[in-house]
Amino acid sequence: MTAPPDPPAAGAQPHSHLLLNRVITTVLRSALHPLLSRNLALLTYRGRRTGRAYTIPVSYQRDGGQVTVFSNQRWWRNLRGGARVELRLRGKRVPGRAEVHEDGPTVVAAVRDYLARKGPGAGRTINLRLPDGGIPDDRVLTEATRSHVVVRITLEAAEPHGVLIRWARGYDPLVRIAFAGREQRVRAELLDRLALRPGDRVLDIACGTGTLAVSAAARVGPAGWVGALDASPEMVQAAREKAVRAGVNVDVREGLAQALPFPDDSMDAVVSTLAWHHIPPDSHGTAASEMTRVLRPGGRLLIADLKAPANPLTRGLATHLLGHRVASHETAAVDQLLATAGLVEQRRGTTSARWLAFVTARKPAAGMAATRAG
Ligand SMILES: C[S@@+](CC[C@H](N)C(=O)[O-])C[C@H]1O[C@@H](n2cnc3c(N)ncnc32)[C@H](O)[C@@H]1O
Repeated sequence: MTAPPDPPAAGAQPHSHLLLNRVITTVLRSALHPLLSRNLALLTYRGRRTGRAYTIPVSYQRDGGQVTVFSNQRWWRNLRGGARVELRLRGKRVPGRAEVHEDGPTVVAAVRDYLARKGPGAGRTINLRLPDGGIPDDRVLTEATRSHVVVRITLEAAEPHGVLIRWARGYDPLVRIAFAGREQRVRAELLDRLALRPGDRVLDIACGTGTLAVSAAARVGPAGWVGALDASPEMVQAAREKAVRAGVNVDVREGLAQALPFPDDSMDAVVSTLAWHHIPPDSHGTAASEMTRVLRPGGRLLIADLKAPANPLTRGLATHLLGHRVASHETAAVDQLLATAGLVEQRRGTTSARWLAFVTARKPAAGMAATRAG
């Protein structure tokens, strides 16, 4: 039995293709990736014989946690029987497990689905020569895909809970620089919007080092209560220490925004700043319902987060440099989630730090909720 070939069919490719692949790979690894990464990803696999890692650009189709790739070259043999791979998808590296499907009917069905979604002309992007005019019938597809296989990659959630910050000691100096000396002023603006009163119960979600929670504690006074929660143990420790230094009571807990350890209807206000983009997008709905659940009827919510730059190039650069989901953080999407969670009176705006946007909303008062439900 011969060992499977390692490199991506290098010998079979003309030099012009190799050069083009190199250019595409460079762009996909750079801040300019949005120009190509809608349809192209980088696939990294290990050669069975050499153990070396190879990276190639591939056209792909994504359905949630599954990515489909086609090949009529030889590299896929390294994935036979299943193999761990890594994809660079829209600028983000995501590990996954690849399975190869070689049987004709599966390949034809997958190609048909690909063409239906991307358009009949997309056959070229997966090395298929097809007659012009719509998606061909199964007989033609069977013939055209004779040397193709389907590689299905099941993505592993890179951050099942969120992007945690473990470098708590360096966080405050960095934030001070980002706010250019106006941090306390901007945080005070946000707390003003929550209209905190002495005696209020406030929860700061994904509190980081607890700067906002400590200011909130001063506003609600000894008759009030401030809770702060973060999924990073280092941040929790830093927030506890900051509250002690400031001489205020803050109940700091380690936990997830998606599963708040607090009873229903228990908070007058819930706040979360600079953290929404740290929570995985597919958990945003759960986080929004949790925030709503713990608010008392009539309670107020404020979420403030980085504003996505309008220009796609700047957005690509910001996403690349910050390693954040700046590009996918759209206030409109948050509005929709909050409405679905049952919040009303949504208002949005920008703080005096122009890169920081906020959304406020309110849980309907008990009578209104009952009316809505009934
Ligand atoms: C950029 S910091 C913001 C900290 C703070 N709110 C502020 O305004 O400075 C984002 C925080 O979210 C936390 N985090 C990420 N995912 C989380 C989750 N699912 N639940 C709770 N905290 C989370 C991180 O550990 C980090 O401390």
